[in-house]
Amino acid sequence: MCSYCGCEAEPAVRALMAEHDRIADLAYRARAASAGGDPQAAALLAEVAAAFADHSRGEEVGLFAQLRLAGEGVAEVDELEAQHRRLRAALADPNLAGRPTDLVAVLAELTEHAEREDDDLFPFALQRLPDESWSALARSG
Ligand SMILES: [Fe+2]
Repeated sequence: MCSYCGCEAEPAVRALMAEHDRIADLAYRARAASAGGDPQAAALLAEVAAAFADHSRGEEVGLFAQLRLAGEGVAEVDELEAQHRRLRAALADPNLAGRPTDLVAVLAELTEHAEREDDDLFPFALQRLPDESWSALARSG
């Protein structure tokens, strides 16, 4: 996390990071349920899938769209968006909860993805996006 760089001072970034925390908590519970053979694993995984679908689409129409408009970090945004599509498809698989090895791999990719945004993309956006981008995000948020 980047409490040292001021990311959390920007409401749009703070909100995205809070969503990452919520998704990470759900993912942890889904992984633990799956490892313990708990039948709740599928329901928890469905919660992860729904939360990530909402969150990732919000990122795409919000922060990612502003970065593209400003011509900043476009290649990284393309990669992260491709990862959103892969993760949404993997999490939407209704049989994932029954395949523990795949489940662990998908949730590990989800964690890695969120860390890349928290540690790289958000601080980069804070440095490079102009004030009007943050104003647009605040209006749409
Ligand atoms: Fe993302």
